[in-house]
Amino acid sequence: MPVSVAEEKEKAKEKVLNAICNDVIEQIRPGAKEQAEVKALTELIIANLNSKAMEMGIDAHAISVGSTARNTWVSGEADIDIFIMFPEATSDQDLEAKGLALAKSVCDRYEERYASHPYIHAYFHFGDREYDVDLVPCFAVKDPSRLKSAVDRTPFHNEYVIRRLSGSGLEDEVRLLKRFLRCLGIYGSEQRRKGFSGYLCELLILKYRSFVSFLKHAAEWRYGERIDIEGHGKYRGDEPLIVIDPVDAKRNVAAAVSLYSFSRLIDAAREFLARPSHEFFQLKEPKPMSESEFRRIAKERGTAFVVVRFRAPEVVEDILFPQLSKAEVSVRKLIERNDFVVYRSGVTVDTDTDEAIMVFELLVWQLPAIKKHIGPPVTARRHAEKFKNKHSPPFIIEDGRYVVEVKRRYTDVVSLLKHELKHCSLGKHVSKAIEEGYEVSWIEETRFSTGIGLFFRDYFGYS
Ligand code: UTP
Ligand code: MN
Ligand code: MN
Repeated sequence: MPVSVAEEKEKAKEKVLNAICNDVIEQIRPGAKEQAEVKALTELIIANLNSKAMEMGIDAHAISVGSTARNTWVSGEADIDIFIMFPEATSDQDLEAKGLALAKSVCDRYEERYASHPYIHAYFHFGDREYDVDLVPCFAVKDPSRLKSAVDRTPFHNEYVIRRLSGSGLEDEVRLLKRFLRCLGIYGSEQRRKGFSGYLCELLILKYRSFVSFLKHAAEWRYGERIDIEGHGKYRGDEPLIVIDPVDAKRNVAAAVSLYSFSRLIDAAREFLARPSHEFFQLKEPKPMSESEFRRIAKERGTAFVVVRFRAPEVVEDILFPQLSKAEVSVRKLIERNDFVVYRSGVTVDTDTDEAIMVFELLVWQLPAIKKHIGPPVTARRHAEKFKNKHSPPFIIEDGRYVVEVKRRYTDVVSLLKHELKHCSLGKHVSKAIEEGYEVSWIEETRFSTGIGLFFRDYFGYS
């Protein structure tokens, strides 16, 4: 039977797709030197932790977890994850005090960080590179559905993934997926990204068996897509993507994936499959939009931009970003309650200056001095009398109701926010930061910082 033209074309495309994927894999798979270094450094740190634990009389042992333990890390992008396991009966206080003391005893340069509980993020010089290392104390629980802390599942993830992935040849497919998502800006489950975590990538590849097959499925995803590898899910939720944790039937591994990340992936999957290119895997240094470029675009739009800036509260990102988003929503409401019209808005943190920035783009940013104040229907005699006593003439009757005109207190958005921002419900940390001082201005009157330039590079969309 003759092969159809369509089939020929499909085959050719498949070939291009595979060639690109193979090229990229060669670039992102850690070389022998990196593999050996990561292995040696991991073993060294674990040995140090275990012997220090003995010395300090601490009943705990260290294990290697995460992508470096599973051989799914992308070259140069690895952090080494080491968990310090304490007996289940350990108290929370002991876990924290002893865990951190033990972790600190093996590193020179580190900072304390906080997830569900504190851990140590350390930097190790090894070979000719510096490695980021997470040292995380956790409870060695027996049953992953009965956790004492949120990180206690990780050793179970590790075991699950290693057993199924190791030696399957699928590790490279995980790397491809991670790089693809990173280039889209949706890799990582942190609150500022709300994207796909490393563990989620591993599960998606275990499910679909290859990067390309994964994309073909993702291209058809619907809101509420549900993946349950073990077929044991008890989870009920309404997130865009639901991937039941194979080690804990009550948990959605994709809970952090926002509707934006979900949709961005679907769109990119279709684009890449239709027009495969190396571009999709090229990391680009984010380039801030210049002030002149911004001005040109803004002028064409004909909208107005108001910027609110203040010192970023000193809390971890995973707390800061949700608070900034909530504050943004409540400021939008304030603006709209005062009859102005918001078109779009967003928040960002300028890491150069440690400033939090809220941006509001407006369709209506200035209003005349008068404003209608609507009174009762004329037929409601008692209310009508009260209203007429309270307000002074002239009275207008409109649709059978009294109306008086009052003077609008704020005729532009900047003056509104200058005076009323503090009375918005902004959340604890943002409120406090705003108390200490903030600036509200039209974008033309504020310093066009790198952070603002980076924000607008994303804001106007991709092509
Ligand atoms: P990492 O954030 O270091 O991810 O978390 P990773 O899987 O090692 O991927 P990369 O290559 O560094 O980016 C380490 C482990 O902690 C658990 C997972 O088991 C993960 O593998 N974890 C982390 C979660 O369960 N949820 C999270 O949101 C983050
Ligand atoms: Mn990691
Ligand atoms: Mn980590």
